[in-house]
Amino acid sequence: MVEHRTTRIGLIGCGFYAQNHLHAWGDLKSQNAELVAVCDQDPIKAEAAGRRFGAAWFTDAATMLESMPIDLLDITTRMGSHRALAAMAAEHKIAMIVQKPFAPNWDECVAIVENARAHGTWLAVHENFRFATSMRRVKAVLDSGAIGDPNWARISFRTGFDVYLGQPYLAQEDRLVILDVGIHVLDLARWLMGEVAHLSCETQRRNPNIKAEDTATMILKHETGAVSIVEATYEARRIPDQFPETLVEIEGTKGSIIVTRGEKMVVTTQGLSFEENIGGPLLSWTSRPWHVSQEAVLHTNAHMLTSFRAGRDAETSGVDNLKTFALVEAAYESAVSHASVKPKKWSPKA
Ligand SMILES: NC(=O)c1ccc[n+]([C@@H]2O[C@H](COP(=O)([O-])OP(=O)(O)OC[C@H]3O[C@@H](n4cnc5c(N)ncnc54)[C@H](O)[C@@H]3O)[C@@H](O)[C@H]2O)c1
Repeated sequence: MVEHRTTRIGLIGCGFYAQNHLHAWGDLKSQNAELVAVCDQDPIKAEAAGRRFGAAWFTDAATMLESMPIDLLDITTRMGSHRALAAMAAEHKIAMIVQKPFAPNWDECVAIVENARAHGTWLAVHENFRFATSMRRVKAVLDSGAIGDPNWARISFRTGFDVYLGQPYLAQEDRLVILDVGIHVLDLARWLMGEVAHLSCETQRRNPNIKAEDTATMILKHETGAVSIVEATYEARRIPDQFPETLVEIEGTKGSIIVTRGEKMVVTTQGLSFEENIGGPLLSWTSRPWHVSQEAVLHTNAHMLTSFRAGRDAETSGVDNLKTFALVEAAYESAVSHASVKPKKWSPKA
């Protein structure tokens, strides 16, 4: 194994989901990542995280960035604060990872990317679904050519799991299921099936007690000519519930890949099929059913660490994530217009 000088990690936002990041950085100590400082506006959360994970704790991000030597900053707050915190990191020339959703809207995402570029700061988005062990395996089979050219897919995240319990703010968001979880499924769709030429979307608010859409059904036409159906809902009443697994069906010119609940995959290639369990391991700090999402955080952070150290963009760099965010915007636009929408494109200013 290659020895690395220690990478000093700072983290802002010690809330619900950040606990997974904190544990993941703890595991990555074995790869010389050292969590040196954590910050939360809530002093109780900041102190709890600092004590538990052996880091200095702060309640003010500016103070932390001014007083601690940090190589890589993990911003795990909610999207409304990302632009200001990313600007602060860029000012200090600190590389950063920003949790998804990158920002509440396209213009803010672009502003974060352009500001980081102007400062020459490394920027990545913590888009973790594609780093799950199961999804990596699907991609490897696809890339092996076993099913030929993929030309149809259904990628679906359907659950009735009470997401509002751990994240009560979700019930009051102006844009819900597409921005919160559809964004992951759309990212998987473009990663597995290629960039999207246009898409259409219908949304529903099936739970009357929440503010925004809780169900989205999308049809994507990919640049290759392939078509995929992308589904996201928090209102599926099914037993067993699939939370938090993403189910995938991909058909190609020579076969198919079908991922069913329990992270099982059946691959058909040239008329023969084989079955595989593609779930990731339970880690000391993960538990079912969240482990699928949790172990993906460890792999995402490990990827970020390796990419940052190598001086190369992460797979899910800020620029890459604009392509995923463009699909989110296109879906919301289509849900209003009921027409097919071409995703926006970003290119650097000359
Ligand atoms: N990738 C996934 O699978 C996944 C799953 C759940 C949540 N998330 C994402 O994680 C992010 C956080 O969600 P959450 O549910 O943990 O939210 P949360 O509200 O529980 O935690 C956010 C924390 O950030 C702190 N904070 C906010 N602004 C701050 C600032 N300027 N300085 C310091 N601290 C600040 C808050 O006090 C809070 O403790 C969201 O973007 C959410 O979409 C991702």
